[in-house]
Amino acid sequence: MQTTAHITRLVLPGLTNRHGSLFGGVALSLMDEAAGIVSTRVARGPCVTAHIESVDFDAPIWEGEAISVEAALIGVGRTSMRIRVETWAECLEEGTRRRSTAAEFVMVAMDKDGKPRPVPEEGRKILAAQAAQAASDQTDGASPAE
Ligand SMILES: CC(C)(COP(=O)(O)OP(=O)(O)OC[C@H]1O[C@@H](n2cnc3c(N)ncnc32)[C@H](O)[C@@H]1OP(=O)(O)O)[C@@H](O)C(=O)NCCC(=O)NCCS
Repeated sequence: MQTTAHITRLVLPGLTNRHGSLFGGVALSLMDEAAGIVSTRVARGPCVTAHIESVDFDAPIWEGEAISVEAALIGVGRTSMRIRVETWAECLEEGTRRRSTAAEFVMVAMDKDGKPRPVPEEGRKILAAQAAQAASDQTDGASPAE
């Protein structure tokens, strides 16, 4: 099961404000879309956005650059999933990128009657396996005690 999603869009004139940078609302919409893709993959069904943690726009994304949106599952509750989403400004010609935004989204799995439903156990297991792997990688990289 994939617990990440990645969306890239070119920032065209219709998506920018009068200063020539991407509208914040467009960035938020793409972030919500990416979080929705991750949660739907993990829940194996429809989800809604319950909460978006405060969002700071740290750097503008200029017309002609690309916006890259990267979302990853970081937590699983009973019916909810916590997803970290970052946006990056990418200058395609120079091959450089800088982080623009980051936020955490809480997405809730829904049943066919529009009520929260439990997230399948698989999502929780994958997250636990990823955490164990990260801890093991950290131990392997640690310098031996003297
Ligand atoms: C989100 C929603 C389903 C929660 O319904 P609810 O009856 O309050 O359900 P619950 O209290 O059982 O909460 C369900 C889960 O969501 C979490 N949750 C609900 N509101 C939350 C909030 N504001 N912040 C963080 N988590 C929240 C709960 O902690 C719970 O998680 P858990 O099961 O993993 O412990 C409901 O409020 C809703 O439908 N909101 C509108 C969603 C929407 O339209 N989004 C925008 C378009 S997709």
